[in-house]
Amino acid sequence: MTQNHKALFIIFGGTGDLAYRKLYPALYRLYKKNYLNENFAVIGTARRKWTDAYYEQVVYDAIADIKESDEDAKQFANHFYYQSHNVKDTDNYISLLNLAEHLDEKYAIEGNRIFYLSVSPSLFGEISSHLKAENLLSEDGFNRMIIEKPFGTDLENSESLNNEILKALTEEQIYRIDHYLGKEMIQNLLALRFANPLLKNIWNKNFISNMQITLAEDIGVEERGAYYETSGALRDMVQNHVLQIVSFLLMDEPNSYDSEAIREVKVKALQDLKSINSTNVTENYVRGQYTTSDRYPEQVGYTDEHEVDPNSIVETFVAGKIESKNENWSGVPVYIRTGKRMKAKNTRIDIVFKESENAFLVDNETQSNVFSILIGPEQGLSLQLNNKSIGHEFEVEPVQLSYKQEDDAPEDYERLILSALSGEKTNFVHWDELAESWKYIDAIRQAWSESESPLHLYEVHTNGPEEASRLLEKEGHYWIWDE
Ligand code: NDP
Ligand code: BG6
Repeated sequence: MTQNHKALFIIFGGTGDLAYRKLYPALYRLYKKNYLNENFAVIGTARRKWTDAYYEQVVYDAIADIKESDEDAKQFANHFYYQSHNVKDTDNYISLLNLAEHLDEKYAIEGNRIFYLSVSPSLFGEISSHLKAENLLSEDGFNRMIIEKPFGTDLENSESLNNEILKALTEEQIYRIDHYLGKEMIQNLLALRFANPLLKNIWNKNFISNMQITLAEDIGVEERGAYYETSGALRDMVQNHVLQIVSFLLMDEPNSYDSEAIREVKVKALQDLKSINSTNVTENYVRGQYTTSDRYPEQVGYTDEHEVDPNSIVETFVAGKIESKNENWSGVPVYIRTGKRMKAKNTRIDIVFKESENAFLVDNETQSNVFSILIGPEQGLSLQLNNKSIGHEFEVEPVQLSYKQEDDAPEDYERLILSALSGEKTNFVHWDELAESWKYIDAIRQAWSESESPLHLYEVHTNGPEEASRLLEKEGHYWIWDE
């Protein structure tokens, strides 16, 4: 049965891009599905001097494409209030507290508060300490703080950011968003691995040859050049999304399916990753940057993007070979790649199984069994098997069994906000996971800076530099997806 949640959302960065494109539509979907009903209100805050009426109109516009009717959209937008607020200014928190208490009573919210920090991470510490000092943390209901990536720029920076927040809130109250954890097919990884004896029994080094994780994007850095210059693909995509997927693929079976038990095995999987250093970085990692192509003269290279240094050596592509020290995974590489301006948007995992030594392999047409988990834009599964071709001859050829997931799955932010309302933390990133992933990433950055590891240019609308394929080819493997 759908549970109607009671909560006051205080969104810092209420005038920003994320709030407009993701948060307001997600809240509306929860409203339409009755997870939020009458007992909720939203305070949007930012420095801009907006009125409540203007803010309501912004929210109304943000849901224009998905609203069921004008009436319904207006009723939803009526739950939104705006307060102009510089997060550095103490007095503003006092007004915010008064408004919060008023709305708490008006909507019978029972003191439940979700603070959504949709602002630069450099403001997280300041906001947290003010929330505590100015008594915005409710004593009656729950206090939960949702924070957005990037969680710092390296382990040291992330640790100090975290320590700032921990002065006001506990780890239990912090919900770090990695929107990949809100994706249907990522959440499905647990079910696929552990609810199917067929897969569970062969999910190990005896049967799996290699795993491949692809997070390819056809878009460039768009309007985010300034941010991307401080991040690059390694921090933007590998530190969070890719390593989260790696931990789901390599983790042992948890003792139970509660968030603590799952977190424990995920952290262990990250701790087991073989570390990269300046002597092995070039053979295990390839970095690239997109450049112009004669075939697409209208598209600029990375160094000509808005707010990007013309001499930038920031990587827009990373491919790598990840190995685990865990004996269960000895000899099974996990190949990863992610990049901007690749041929197509495609997010997928391909599990390549070992071939068996038998007479059928004499026939050149047989191929490895491959289990593919399609995360986006198409969602589904596919299994490649070798099958006898129809006819009088005994010939074997590969066929695909495919399953396509329906399009009506809940959207990432909708799912994650509902998890935060329910206090369900499995799909949020715990500090222990974050610390381990930064250790792995910091070592790569350090190795790149100490070694001669080159930055390879790749033309827009290709699948990255050729060196990325060589990572696999030298071990007799090849990318399963290579459109
Ligand atoms: P924007 O720059 O669009 O929004 C930033 C918000 O912060 C604005 O509402 C701005 O409003 C407010 N703000 C800035 N300084 C202050 C201040 N001193 N006091 C009060 N408010 C302030 O950024 P995004 O919405 O894109 O991103 C927000 C966060 O989400 C960032 O951490 C980003 O990394 C993360 N994120 C964003 C994604 C996206 O798709 N946009 C995806 C993943 C993460 P004003 O100027 O009116 O004060
Ligand atoms: C974000 C990155 O975390 O993920 C973006 O900051 C990237 O650079 C985006 O475009 C990709 O997400 P998705 O859901 O489109 O694969």
